[in-house]
Amino acid sequence: MNMTLSRIVLVLVMGMAVWGMVTWSGTARAAESVPQKGQPVYEKYCLLCHGPEGRGDGPQGQLMKPPAANFKSPQSKNKSDAELLKIIREGHPNSAMTKWAGILSEEDMKQVLSYIRQLAGGPDKGL
Ligand code: HEC
Repeated sequence: MNMTLSRIVLVLVMGMAVWGMVTWSGTARAAESVPQKGQPVYEKYCLLCHGPEGRGDGPQGQLMKPPAANFKSPQSKNKSDAELLKIIREGHPNSAMTKWAGILSEEDMKQVLSYIRQLAGGPDKGL
């Protein structure tokens, strides 16, 4: 009787441990994959100017005036997500930064923004 009970308890505990590991690794993977969705978008549309690491040193980035923004600079890192998203959506006046609304979906622009933040090591605001 006691043996059976302890076996049941053991099975239950092991079951919960396995379940916990499965759900934990599931959420960890989901969290990692979110910014990555922006990577193909960035490489296709933005890398040419903003560069592979977001320093504004893409093959065309330094040829224009003003040069492409360096996402690792304090100027960019101090901007809020809303400010950067507005520039991505609407472009920046008198610069080579064109408007991406209509070309990219709202979802793609948000994904590419989180990819830019990932390249820059996160926003400075509020830290
Ligand atoms: C033709 C070159 C070019 C391409 C392509 C380009 N950008 Fe830009 N981008 C610029 C330039 C130049 C600026 C700087 C504008 C300024 O300083 O007035 C800029 C500025 C920005 C800013 C504002 C940064 C800040 O701190 O103010 C963001 C965000 C941005 N770009 C995101 C993107 C994204 C996302 C893409 C791809 C979907 C992209 N850019 C594609 C040239 C480009």
